[in-house]
Amino acid sequence: MAVLPIRVAGDPVLRQKAKKVRKIDASIQKLIDDMIETMRDERGVGLAAPQIHEPLRLFIMDPGRSEGGEDGLKVVVNPELTFPDEERMELWEGCLSIPGIRGLTERRATVEVRCLDREGRPHACTLHGFPAAVAQHETDHLDGVLFLQRMPDVAALAFEDEFARFLAPAERGDDAGEAADA
Ligand code: NI
Repeated sequence: MAVLPIRVAGDPVLRQKAKKVRKIDASIQKLIDDMIETMRDERGVGLAAPQIHEPLRLFIMDPGRSEGGEDGLKVVVNPELTFPDEERMELWEGCLSIPGIRGLTERRATVEVRCLDREGRPHACTLHGFPAAVAQHETDHLDGVLFLQRMPDVAALAFEDEFARFLAPAERGDDAGEAADA
């Protein structure tokens, strides 16, 4: 396994629509292992293949906790997201491809994910709260969208230090206080 360099905003690979994974072969398995090592090295909660310059519809996520029993590492191939209701949530997001910055975004509170797992088996799950937001953030990466584009008000942007100093204390105990990059 290897820790791979993460591409940051400005790299065209982050603005393009990624292609479906056609076959989960040995090279894809290696890519997944490298992505897991890279995400853990960065202490991230998610990583999409375009972020390591592989324009494929594949991401991993490990949000650490959830309300729906979907804790732990997930490998998500060719995801399709649907939204069972209209509920929205706000949260402060960060991104490994936009280092040092947080922004207040609006996301759907519940998401149904249909995808393949790393063995190529169909998988379906429903995520709520923070894990749902991570799944939306990562799927956006597959469509060339960054979290900045999900901010209703671009003024709600903060550097890490200012976020910790001025914003996180007021949000503690709430999803809006999550401080992890994806
Ligand atoms: Ni990201």
